[in-house]
Amino acid sequence: MSNIKNILLKKKSCKSVWFMRQAGRYLPEFKKVRADNPNFIELCLNSNLSAEITLQPLKRFDLDSAIIFSDILLVPYALGQDVSFIKEEGPKLSEFDFPTFINKKEGDFKSKLEPVYRAIEITRKKLEKNKSLISFVGAPWTLIIYMFNMKLDKKNIDINILNSKKFNLNEIFNKLINFLCIHIKNQINAGADIVQIFDSWAGLIPQNKIKEFCYRPNLEIVNFCKKEHIPTICFPKGIKENYYEFNEVVRPDGINLDPDIDPLWAKEKLKNVTLQGGLDPKNLLKSNKELFEAATKYIQTFKDIPYIFNLGHGLLPETDPDKVDKLIKFYRSF
Ligand code: CP3
Repeated sequence: MSNIKNILLKKKSCKSVWFMRQAGRYLPEFKKVRADNPNFIELCLNSNLSAEITLQPLKRFDLDSAIIFSDILLVPYALGQDVSFIKEEGPKLSEFDFPTFINKKEGDFKSKLEPVYRAIEITRKKLEKNKSLISFVGAPWTLIIYMFNMKLDKKNIDINILNSKKFNLNEIFNKLINFLCIHIKNQINAGADIVQIFDSWAGLIPQNKIKEFCYRPNLEIVNFCKKEHIPTICFPKGIKENYYEFNEVVRPDGINLDPDIDPLWAKEKLKNVTLQGGLDPKNLLKSNKELFEAATKYIQTFKDIPYIFNLGHGLLPETDPDKVDKLIKFYRSF
């Protein structure tokens, strides 16, 4: 069993490190591949290149896990929406069509995502046996934000866009939950051994909707995974003290902290769960001294409990790969 799985399932305390967005825009070798592949979705669906990109950070750094190179938006894509990336603006999806979405059959969905599963198979064959291969999905709420192009800017969304539609929102959540579980199971069957569920925009949910839009969908997915013996890591980013209630209700194997969560608070309040991450990726843009000081706060606080070293958000594009190497070496020597 990989050490990450050991920490997640057996709640064993040992050293383990990987980083969100470890395969991506800060790596020169990724930028090279990306320059030749202007269509991002097509790149994600190129199994050989996807496997190659997944392994790039493991060739450079002493990491315990790979995370498959893919994207959370491949699920809305496989459910019938076109996905494009506009420079400076981020992802843009074609207009949501309820009948297309709700009538989508499992077979069609699966065949559209088949290249992701092939990429996982290729990666698993090339990856050292003792390393984990993490698969992932976006949580329903976070996908809905993109499916309805609801993000006005970094912090604001227009929730009225949802209220003004004629369809039943609950049906959309349920269909997503159902198909996300299918996508998770297929990724595990292909050779991934853990799933991380990204609810990156959970922090935008109004307090009176948090159970309905965040806890319930995450719980349904985690319960499915428990039934299938698939280890889960949830990341309900930005929900502040609701992390406590989230953990009590959803009970994932692991929970990723965001930079707003105080490590001491997390240690005291988040029980029966393996903690992961927390360190603000902006620290990698600072001096070594500042970076190591910030990292020490997490490593020191969690040294006696099951903890996977990671970040509070993905690595930033402007990160120097050498800093990533230094941070991993610092963690290993701690
Ligand atoms: O972590 C990894 O290395 C695996 C690959 C991965 C990508 N996206 C590749 C990617 C993972 C785990 C994701 C998750 C993802 N995608 C999330 C959840 C995590 C988070 O960061 O909040 C979200 C919200 C998305 C949606 C998405 N995809 C956005 C908003 C963007 C554009 C801006 C950005 O964040 O990079 C993408 C594109 C994307 N996904 C890139 C990569 C490497 C950049 C593509 C490029 O322009 O070269």
